[in-house]
Amino acid sequence: MAARYAGARPFARGYVRHKLRLDPVHAALLALAGPQGFGEVLDLGCGRGQTAVLLLLAGAARRVHGIERNRAWLSEALRAAPLGFVATLADLATMPALPPADTVLLIDVLYQFETAAQMALLDAAAVAARRRIVIRSMDAAAGLRGGLTRLGETALRHLWPGSRARINPLPILRLTGALAAAGWTATVTRCAATMAPANMLIVAERAGAAPPA
Ligand SMILES: C[S@@+](CC[C@H](N)C(=O)[O-])C[C@H]1O[C@@H](n2cnc3c(N)ncnc32)[C@H](O)[C@@H]1O
Repeated sequence: MAARYAGARPFARGYVRHKLRLDPVHAALLALAGPQGFGEVLDLGCGRGQTAVLLLLAGAARRVHGIERNRAWLSEALRAAPLGFVATLADLATMPALPPADTVLLIDVLYQFETAAQMALLDAAAVAARRRIVIRSMDAAAGLRGGLTRLGETALRHLWPGSRARINPLPILRLTGALAAAGWTATVTRCAATMAPANMLIVAERAGAAPPA
């Protein structure tokens, strides 16, 4: 699957290869999708699109709509993706509403927003998702693990200025509380790589939602 990025810049090729090899989120997503799949997916802050490519190639998504504000990364996603990927170049902080989808993904994105914008994006995801919302974020309340994860993210922000607008993780309980208030049931599991030990996966299901057709 990393071969789909053969035409990308060397850094992007290496990034995708290492990300796919080292980050447990990809196996977690495939397991979660199961034989039924995620249906139509909205991948918010899709970056270079490796999650979309993986889900489409594995048959775990029927279609993926990636929304991303970094033009260069979105171009790499579009070049690598198979049929079924559509992309929108946009700033999620200024989108009044999100298009509907069976599954909404927010993988390593929320903590880059100001607090009010995070909660607004979560609310918009809760309206857009027909069935499931999958979020990975670092837990601000995770003590030493939280501190280490924040340190790693801050280092990456200095290494690649512009890659992260801010590092503003909220306590996971605040996110799950907002989801519960919007009528979703959430489960939380650790989904952490060595460099980011406080990363948690929130899987929220809408009660009584029909499986994707
Ligand atoms: C750490 S990366 C994660 C990318 C991807 N979700 C993944 O799992 O590899 C965070 C992504 O969110 C995007 N992002 C951050 N703020 C955004 C905003 N306001 N609008 C759209 N995309 C944003 C960044 O450009 C970046 O691609």
